[in-house]
Amino acid sequence: ILPLIPALVLGYLCGSVPFGLILTGAAGLGDIRSIGSGNIGATNVLRTGNKTLAAATLVLDALKAAVAILVARYFWGDDAAMLAAVGAFFGHCFPVWLGFKGGKGVAVMIGSLLSLSWPVGLIFCAVWLLIGFTRKISSLAALTAAATAPIFTYVFNANIWLTFTVAALALLLFYQHRENISRLIKGTEPTIGGKKAA
Ligand code: G3P
Repeated sequence: ILPLIPALVLGYLCGSVPFGLILTGAAGLGDIRSIGSGNIGATNVLRTGNKTLAAATLVLDALKAAVAILVARYFWGDDAAMLAAVGAFFGHCFPVWLGFKGGKGVAVMIGSLLSLSWPVGLIFCAVWLLIGFTRKISSLAALTAAATAPIFTYVFNANIWLTFTVAALALLLFYQHRENISRLIKGTEPTIGGKKAA
């Protein structure tokens, strides 16, 4: 059980680096938390109009989870890798540096799935792209991909612990999207790239 604690802490520390906030701040675009939805993730960075920064936010937020997971697996094994993913998710969504108000976990989920079970990660991206391009709503794409991820995890791995871990990440992702969900129900959720404050 002992290596699981450093894995969780490592995951949290990596996950809590708010790349969206850092990159937009460094680019002189102001505080991303006062733009659009106020979220620190790639979708909201795109609302600044800077596609390169949005792509960089997506990649770096995914990479921070992947790095934590791969390091945890290398030193402490597969169980620790799953804990690192959970830690990274909590770090990203509830970073101590930002008063525990962080992101919604989509990029972190992509990085985690690609590192824990790459076929499931690829399917998550495929589902996101399918819904994202047809419906043009980022949150809907993420919620659909997250809802199906535990099923694909079980199909590809038949590992109940990994399935539980992915289900827990998906539940947290839904919780973080609670405002998006109520806007989706009301039909007021903005489309991808839309600059409307949500
Ligand atoms: O990546 C988070 C996305 O699903 C929703 O972001 O800014 O539209 O709330 P946002």
